[in-house]
Amino acid sequence: MSDLIYYFSGSGNSLKVAKEISKEINGNLIRILKKADEISFNENINSLGLIFPVYHATFGESGIPHIVEDFISKLKNINSVYIYAVCTHSGFPGTTIENLSRLISKRHGTLSVGYYIKMSIPYSTLDKIKHLLFKEELKTNQLFEKKMNKLQEDLNKKIKVIVDDILKRKKAKLETTGRIFNILYTPLYILSKSMAKSYYKKLSNKNFNNFSKLTLYADNSFKTNQKCNGCGICVKVCPVDNISLMNSKPVWHNNCENCFACYQWCPSNALEGEIVQFQRKYHFDDITVKDMIRK
Ligand SMILES: Cc1cc2nc3c(=O)[nH]c(=O)nc-3n(C[C@H](O)[C@H](O)[C@H](O)COP(=O)(O)O)c2cc1C
Ligand code: SF4
Ligand code: SF4
Repeated sequence: MSDLIYYFSGSGNSLKVAKEISKEINGNLIRILKKADEISFNENINSLGLIFPVYHATFGESGIPHIVEDFISKLKNINSVYIYAVCTHSGFPGTTIENLSRLISKRHGTLSVGYYIKMSIPYSTLDKIKHLLFKEELKTNQLFEKKMNKLQEDLNKKIKVIVDDILKRKKAKLETTGRIFNILYTPLYILSKSMAKSYYKKLSNKNFNNFSKLTLYADNSFKTNQKCNGCGICVKVCPVDNISLMNSKPVWHNNCENCFACYQWCPSNALEGEIVQFQRKYHFDDITVKDMIRK
Protein backbone atom coordinates (compact mmCIF):
# COMPACT_ATOMS: atom_id res chain seq x y z
CA MET A 1 0.00 0.00 0.00
CA SER A 2 1.42 3.41 -0.84
CA ASP A 3 0.85 7.00 0.19
CA LEU A 4 1.24 9.28 -2.80
CA ILE A 5 2.05 12.96 -2.36
CA TYR A 6 1.63 14.99 -5.54
CA TYR A 7 3.10 18.48 -5.37
CA PHE A 8 3.59 21.54 -7.52
CA SER A 9 6.10 24.19 -6.48
CA GLY A 10 7.86 27.12 -8.15
CA SER A 11 9.95 28.73 -5.43
CA GLY A 12 10.12 25.65 -3.21
CA ASN A 13 7.68 26.44 -0.34
CA SER A 14 5.17 23.77 -1.29
CA LEU A 15 7.96 21.28 -1.89
CA LYS A 16 9.25 22.04 1.61
CA VAL A 17 5.80 21.19 3.04
CA ALA A 18 5.52 18.09 0.85
CA LYS A 19 8.93 16.86 2.00
CA GLU A 20 8.10 17.38 5.68
CA ILE A 21 4.82 15.47 5.36
CA SER A 22 6.47 12.75 3.32
CA LYS A 23 9.11 12.23 6.05
CA GLU A 24 6.39 11.69 8.66
CA ILE A 25 4.09 9.39 6.70
CA ASN A 26 6.74 7.73 4.55
CA GLY A 27 5.00 8.94 1.41
CA ASN A 28 6.13 8.89 -2.21
CA LEU A 29 6.78 12.40 -3.50
CA ILE A 30 5.68 12.98 -7.09
CA ARG A 31 6.01 16.30 -8.89
CA ILE A 32 2.99 17.41 -10.89
CA LEU A 33 4.13 18.07 -14.43
CA LYS A 34 2.08 19.16 -17.42
CA LYS A 35 0.72 16.74 -19.94
CA ALA A 36 -0.12 14.08 -17.40
CA ASP A 37 -2.16 11.28 -18.91
CA GLU A 38 -5.21 9.94 -17.15
CA ILE A 39 -4.21 8.86 -13.64
CA SER A 40 -6.14 5.90 -12.37
CA PHE A 41 -5.89 4.62 -8.81
CA ASN A 42 -6.21 1.07 -7.59
CA GLU A 43 -6.86 -0.47 -4.19
CA ASN A 44 -3.12 -0.34 -3.38
CA ILE A 45 -3.26 3.40 -2.83
CA ASN A 46 -3.59 4.34 0.82
CA SER A 47 -3.82 8.09 0.51
CA LEU A 48 -3.41 10.89 -2.01
CA GLY A 49 -1.96 14.25 -0.99
CA LEU A 50 -2.13 17.40 -3.11
CA ILE A 51 0.29 20.16 -2.15
CA PHE A 52 0.57 23.37 -4.14
CA PRO A 53 0.71 27.18 -3.93
CA VAL A 54 -2.31 29.47 -4.14
CA TYR A 55 -2.20 31.52 -7.36
CA HIS A 56 -4.23 34.62 -8.19
CA ALA A 57 -6.91 34.12 -5.53
CA THR A 58 -6.35 37.79 -4.67
CA PHE A 59 -7.85 38.57 -8.06
CA GLY A 60 -10.98 36.47 -7.45
CA GLU A 61 -9.62 33.50 -9.42
CA SER A 62 -9.98 29.90 -8.21
CA GLY A 63 -6.52 30.05 -6.57
CA ILE A 64 -5.58 26.70 -8.12
CA PRO A 65 -2.65 26.81 -10.60
CA HIS A 66 -3.60 25.71 -14.17
CA ILE A 67 -1.29 22.73 -13.96
CA VAL A 68 -2.95 21.45 -10.78
CA GLU A 69 -6.42 21.95 -12.25
CA ASP A 70 -5.32 20.00 -15.31
CA PHE A 71 -3.91 17.23 -13.11
CA ILE A 72 -7.15 16.92 -11.14
CA SER A 73 -9.17 16.71 -14.34
CA LYS A 74 -7.15 13.58 -15.22
CA LEU A 75 -7.85 11.71 -11.96
CA LYS A 76 -9.87 8.51 -12.21
CA ASN A 77 -11.12 5.93 -9.70
CA ILE A 78 -10.57 8.15 -6.69
CA ASN A 79 -13.91 7.50 -4.99
CA SER A 80 -12.40 5.25 -2.33
CA VAL A 81 -9.04 7.03 -1.91
CA TYR A 82 -8.37 9.20 1.17
CA ILE A 83 -7.54 12.65 -0.24
CA TYR A 84 -5.99 15.61 1.59
CA ALA A 85 -4.59 18.95 0.42
CA VAL A 86 -2.23 21.64 1.67
CA CYS A 87 -2.10 25.04 -0.04
CA THR A 88 0.78 27.39 0.73
CA HIS A 89 0.12 31.11 0.30
CA SER A 90 1.26 34.57 1.29
CA GLY A 91 -1.80 35.93 3.03
CA PHE A 92 -4.86 35.83 0.72
CA PRO A 93 -5.81 32.25 -0.11
CA GLY A 94 -9.43 33.18 -0.93
CA THR A 95 -11.62 30.12 -1.46
CA THR A 96 -8.95 27.86 -2.97
CA ILE A 97 -9.74 24.83 -0.80
CA GLU A 98 -13.50 25.07 -1.40
CA ASN A 99 -12.80 25.31 -5.14
CA LEU A 100 -10.45 22.35 -4.99
CA SER A 101 -13.04 20.31 -3.12
CA ARG A 102 -15.60 21.02 -5.87
CA LEU A 103 -13.14 19.98 -8.59
CA ILE A 104 -12.40 16.72 -6.79
CA SER A 105 -16.14 16.03 -6.35
CA LYS A 106 -16.53 16.36 -10.12
CA ARG A 107 -14.05 13.45 -10.42
CA HIS A 108 -16.22 11.48 -7.93
CA GLY A 109 -13.72 11.87 -5.11
CA THR A 110 -13.85 13.56 -1.70
CA LEU A 111 -11.39 16.04 -0.28
CA SER A 112 -11.36 14.89 3.34
CA VAL A 113 -9.09 17.55 4.83
CA GLY A 114 -7.62 20.74 3.39
CA TYR A 115 -5.21 23.21 5.02
CA TYR A 116 -3.67 26.58 4.32
CA ILE A 117 -0.11 27.40 5.35
CA LYS A 118 1.03 31.00 5.20
CA MET A 119 4.63 31.06 4.10
CA SER A 120 5.43 34.63 3.17
CA ILE A 121 9.07 35.49 3.60
CA PRO A 122 9.40 37.87 6.57
CA TYR A 123 11.26 40.89 5.23
CA SER A 124 10.54 44.08 7.19
CA THR A 125 7.78 46.36 5.88
CA LEU A 126 10.27 49.20 5.45
CA ASP A 127 12.57 46.98 3.39
CA LYS A 128 9.63 45.87 1.24
CA ILE A 129 8.62 49.50 0.59
CA LYS A 130 12.21 50.47 -0.30
CA HIS A 131 12.42 47.43 -2.56
CA LEU A 132 9.16 48.33 -4.27
CA LEU A 133 9.85 52.04 -4.68
CA PHE A 134 13.61 52.20 -5.11
CA LYS A 135 14.41 48.62 -6.14
CA GLU A 136 16.72 48.30 -3.14
CA GLU A 137 17.91 44.78 -2.47
CA LEU A 138 15.97 42.96 0.26
CA LYS A 139 18.20 42.30 3.22
CA THR A 140 18.41 39.25 5.42
CA ASN A 141 19.49 40.77 8.74
CA GLN A 142 19.26 39.45 12.31
CA LEU A 143 15.57 40.33 12.62
CA PHE A 144 14.92 38.45 9.39
CA GLU A 145 16.68 35.39 10.79
CA LYS A 146 14.54 35.60 13.94
CA LYS A 147 11.33 35.86 11.94
CA MET A 148 12.45 33.03 9.68
CA ASN A 149 13.00 30.81 12.72
CA LYS A 150 9.48 31.67 13.89
CA LEU A 151 8.13 30.78 10.42
CA GLN A 152 9.88 27.42 10.64
CA GLU A 153 8.52 26.88 14.19
CA ASP A 154 4.94 27.66 13.08
CA LEU A 155 5.42 25.42 10.08
CA ASN A 156 6.55 22.52 12.27
CA LYS A 157 3.49 22.95 14.51
CA LYS A 158 1.11 23.03 11.55
CA ILE A 159 2.75 20.02 9.88
CA LYS A 160 2.31 18.08 13.13
CA VAL A 161 -1.44 18.82 13.17
CA ILE A 162 -1.75 17.92 9.48
CA VAL A 163 0.18 14.66 9.85
CA ASP A 164 -1.88 13.71 12.93
CA ASP A 165 -5.10 14.30 10.98
CA ILE A 166 -3.87 12.36 7.95
CA LEU A 167 -2.79 9.38 10.04
CA LYS A 168 -6.17 9.37 11.83
CA ARG A 169 -7.88 9.67 8.43
CA LYS A 170 -9.76 12.70 9.67
CA LYS A 171 -12.71 13.80 7.54
CA ALA A 172 -14.69 16.95 6.80
CA LYS A 173 -12.07 19.46 7.91
CA LEU A 174 -11.65 22.02 5.16
CA GLU A 175 -10.01 25.26 6.29
CA THR A 176 -11.60 28.44 5.04
CA THR A 177 -10.77 32.13 5.20
CA GLY A 178 -14.34 32.63 6.39
CA ARG A 179 -17.58 33.54 4.67
CA ILE A 180 -17.74 36.99 6.22
CA PHE A 181 -14.18 37.82 5.14
CA ASN A 182 -14.89 36.71 1.60
CA ILE A 183 -18.15 38.67 1.41
CA LEU A 184 -16.45 41.81 2.76
CA TYR A 185 -13.54 41.30 0.40
CA THR A 186 -15.75 40.85 -2.71
CA PRO A 187 -15.61 44.52 -3.85
CA LEU A 188 -11.82 44.40 -3.53
CA TYR A 189 -11.67 41.16 -5.55
CA ILE A 190 -13.67 42.84 -8.32
CA LEU A 191 -11.44 45.91 -8.29
CA SER A 192 -8.18 43.96 -8.09
CA LYS A 193 -9.35 41.59 -10.84
CA SER A 194 -9.90 44.42 -13.28
CA MET A 195 -6.56 46.03 -12.32
CA ALA A 196 -4.80 42.68 -12.67
CA LYS A 197 -6.35 42.16 -16.09
CA SER A 198 -5.01 45.48 -17.40
CA TYR A 199 -1.61 44.72 -15.89
CA TYR A 200 -1.46 41.26 -17.45
CA LYS A 201 -2.60 42.64 -20.82
CA LYS A 202 0.45 44.88 -20.67
CA LEU A 203 2.78 42.08 -19.55
CA SER A 204 1.54 39.60 -22.12
CA ASN A 205 1.12 42.10 -24.91
CA LYS A 206 -2.23 40.40 -25.63
CA ASN A 207 -5.77 41.67 -25.48
CA PHE A 208 -7.70 38.59 -24.30
CA ASN A 209 -10.60 39.15 -21.97
CA ASN A 210 -9.93 35.96 -20.08
CA PHE A 211 -7.50 36.59 -17.20
CA SER A 212 -6.45 32.97 -16.96
CA LYS A 213 -5.48 32.93 -20.64
CA LEU A 214 -3.53 36.17 -20.24
CA THR A 215 -1.36 34.63 -17.52
CA LEU A 216 -0.11 31.97 -19.95
CA TYR A 217 1.45 34.76 -22.02
CA ALA A 218 2.97 36.68 -19.09
CA ASP A 219 6.33 35.20 -20.08
CA ASN A 220 6.37 37.74 -22.94
CA SER A 221 7.66 40.10 -20.26
CA PHE A 222 10.68 37.95 -19.33
CA LYS A 223 14.11 38.86 -20.59
CA THR A 224 17.72 38.04 -19.79
CA ASN A 225 20.55 40.42 -18.98
CA GLN A 226 24.24 40.15 -19.87
CA LYS A 227 24.85 37.75 -16.95
CA CYS A 228 23.12 34.89 -18.80
CA ASN A 229 25.72 32.23 -19.62
CA GLY A 230 23.37 29.79 -21.34
CA CYS A 231 23.61 27.19 -18.54
CA GLY A 232 20.05 26.00 -19.26
CA ILE A 233 18.98 25.62 -15.64
CA CYS A 234 15.86 27.72 -16.31
CA VAL A 235 14.91 25.20 -19.02
CA LYS A 236 15.30 22.29 -16.61
CA VAL A 237 13.38 23.78 -13.68
CA CYS A 238 10.35 24.93 -15.68
CA PRO A 239 7.56 22.53 -14.68
CA VAL A 240 5.73 22.85 -17.98
CA ASP A 241 8.65 22.70 -20.41
CA ASN A 242 7.91 26.25 -21.49
CA ILE A 243 11.52 27.32 -22.12
CA SER A 244 14.08 26.29 -24.69
CA LEU A 245 17.56 27.61 -25.46
CA MET A 246 18.21 29.34 -28.75
CA ASN A 247 21.74 30.57 -29.42
CA SER A 248 22.43 29.84 -25.74
CA LYS A 249 19.67 32.16 -24.55
CA PRO A 250 16.28 31.16 -23.11
CA VAL A 251 13.18 31.57 -25.24
CA TRP A 252 9.74 31.37 -23.60
CA HIS A 253 6.81 29.68 -25.36
CA ASN A 254 3.64 31.26 -23.92
CA ASN A 255 2.42 28.41 -21.77
CA CYS A 256 3.59 29.95 -18.53
CA GLU A 257 2.32 28.96 -15.08
CA ASN A 258 3.82 32.16 -13.62
CA CYS A 259 5.58 30.01 -11.03
CA PHE A 260 8.82 32.06 -11.25
CA ALA A 261 10.98 28.95 -10.95
CA CYS A 262 13.10 30.15 -13.90
CA TYR A 263 13.70 33.46 -12.14
CA GLN A 264 14.10 32.00 -8.66
CA TRP A 265 16.59 29.29 -9.56
CA CYS A 266 18.73 31.06 -12.20
CA PRO A 267 22.19 30.82 -10.60
CA SER A 268 23.43 33.99 -12.33
CA ASN A 269 20.59 36.41 -11.52
CA ALA A 270 20.25 36.79 -15.25
CA LEU A 271 16.50 36.93 -15.50
CA GLU A 272 14.62 40.21 -15.50
CA GLY A 273 11.28 41.67 -16.47
CA GLU A 274 8.44 43.67 -14.98
CA ILE A 275 6.59 40.73 -13.45
CA VAL A 276 9.63 39.44 -11.57
CA GLN A 277 11.24 42.68 -10.50
CA PHE A 278 9.33 42.77 -7.21
CA GLN A 279 9.56 39.05 -6.57
CA ARG A 280 11.80 38.23 -3.67
CA LYS A 281 14.41 35.57 -4.23
CA TYR A 282 14.37 33.32 -1.24
CA HIS A 283 14.03 29.65 -0.60
CA PHE A 284 14.31 27.36 2.40
CA ASP A 285 17.89 26.14 2.96
CA ASP A 286 16.99 22.50 2.51
CA ILE A 287 15.39 23.04 -0.90
CA THR A 288 17.97 23.16 -3.67
CA VAL A 289 17.98 23.62 -7.42
CA LYS A 290 18.56 19.85 -7.70
CA ASP A 291 15.14 19.29 -6.11
CA MET A 292 13.55 21.57 -8.68
CA ILE A 293 15.04 20.10 -11.84
CA ARG A 294 12.48 18.26 -13.99
CA LYS A 295 13.27 14.59 -13.97
C1 LIG B 1 1.69 33.82 -9.79
C2 LIG B 1 1.50 33.85 -8.31
C3 LIG B 1 0.27 34.19 -7.79
C4 LIG B 1 0.08 34.20 -6.40
N1 LIG B 1 -1.15 34.53 -5.91
C5 LIG B 1 -1.35 34.48 -4.56
C6 LIG B 1 -2.64 34.78 -4.02
O1 LIG B 1 -3.59 35.08 -4.74
N2 LIG B 1 -2.79 34.72 -2.67
C7 LIG B 1 -1.75 34.41 -1.83
O2 LIG B 1 -1.93 34.38 -0.62
N3 LIG B 1 -0.52 34.11 -2.32
C8 LIG B 1 -0.30 34.14 -3.66
N4 LIG B 1 0.94 33.84 -4.16
C9 LIG B 1 2.02 33.46 -3.23
C10 LIG B 1 2.25 31.96 -3.23
O3 LIG B 1 1.06 31.24 -3.05
C11 LIG B 1 3.22 31.58 -2.11
O4 LIG B 1 4.38 32.34 -2.20
C12 LIG B 1 3.54 30.10 -2.18
O5 LIG B 1 4.04 29.67 -0.93
C13 LIG B 1 4.55 29.77 -3.27
O6 LIG B 1 4.76 28.39 -3.26
P1 LIG B 1 5.95 27.68 -4.01
O7 LIG B 1 7.22 28.22 -3.39
O8 LIG B 1 5.76 26.25 -3.72
O9 LIG B 1 5.86 28.01 -5.44
C14 LIG B 1 1.15 33.86 -5.53
C15 LIG B 1 2.40 33.54 -6.07
C16 LIG B 1 2.58 33.54 -7.44
C17 LIG B 1 3.93 33.17 -7.98
S1 SF4 C 1 19.38 29.79 -15.81
FE1 SF4 C 1 19.93 31.93 -15.99
S2 SF4 C 1 22.03 31.94 -16.76
FE2 SF4 C 1 21.20 29.89 -17.12
S3 SF4 C 1 20.36 29.99 -19.22
FE3 SF4 C 1 18.68 30.48 -17.84
S4 SF4 C 1 18.69 32.71 -17.66
FE4 SF4 C 1 20.66 32.10 -18.55
S1 SF4 D 1 8.52 29.93 -17.82
FE1 SF4 D 1 9.31 30.35 -15.78
S2 SF4 D 1 7.57 31.23 -14.69
FE2 SF4 D 1 6.76 30.27 -16.53
S3 SF4 D 1 6.17 28.21 -15.90
FE3 SF4 D 1 8.26 28.06 -16.67
S4 SF4 D 1 9.55 28.33 -14.87
FE4 SF4 D 1 7.51 29.00 -14.32
